[in-house]
Amino acid sequence: MILIKLGGSVVTDKSKETTARHDVIERLAQEIASVPGKKIMVHGGGSFGHIKAKEHNLHLGFTDESQRDGVCTVQKDMRLLNRIIEDGFHKANVPVASVPAGAITVFDNGELVKFPSDVFAHYLDIDITPITFGDVVVDKTKGIAICSGDDIMLKLARDLKVERCIFVTKVDGVFASFPAADGEAPLKTIQPGQEINFTVEDADVTGSMQRKLDLMFEIAKLGCKVEVINGLVPGRLASALKNEDYLGTEIKGE
Ligand code: IPE
Repeated sequence: MILIKLGGSVVTDKSKETTARHDVIERLAQEIASVPGKKIMVHGGGSFGHIKAKEHNLHLGFTDESQRDGVCTVQKDMRLLNRIIEDGFHKANVPVASVPAGAITVFDNGELVKFPSDVFAHYLDIDITPITFGDVVVDKTKGIAICSGDDIMLKLARDLKVERCIFVTKVDGVFASFPAADGEAPLKTIQPGQEINFTVEDADVTGSMQRKLDLMFEIAKLGCKVEVINGLVPGRLASALKNEDYLGTEIKGE
């Protein structure tokens, strides 16, 4: 089984609030549909999640009554994006079931403590592709938390038999510096301890690039193949799924 995360930067225009890349979503759904095999889909928030979550400080927990509206609006926006992605899969004739993280996940003090991965396994048993996504979730200590799609990837990889995890982004892979220099090629592989030269402050409501990378190392340590590829280049995800030669970075566990 393969876990695929469609990053918020590829399914949305991150700079424009609640703007989905409909054409990219439909193409990626077609590419995924073109290669048989069981898959679980996870997607990020991009401009449907991060902008308002930050505005309402949702990543800091429920500290103020005025955040209530923000919690509900971000959940609503995330479901809207999920619906657009679901529609892309329907157009590609992939039977999908939407499983919002906010409905099934519990955090405690910023850590994921409950997530029923078996629900996903059951959908796969009947050949339905489950789709979940980063979301505002309840937190036993802080009231609320932001669960990222990357947190979900790690949890599913821990709980289920996963051969591969593919992170679909808007860049060609992981680069030795962030942001990448002009003309720089992505690293073929990267392993824990290998340093990236981060030259900008890049943290959003679900953490920094380094945190995302660390989560990927965690997944790789479990023994599944982890890759970062560019979903804005037509055919690249399909090539990866077919095990053809393609540009991207493999994240190693050691
Ligand atoms: C973010 O999920 C979810 C919300 C902000 C509600 P991710 O952290 O997985 O999203 P991207 O992929 O970075 O946009």
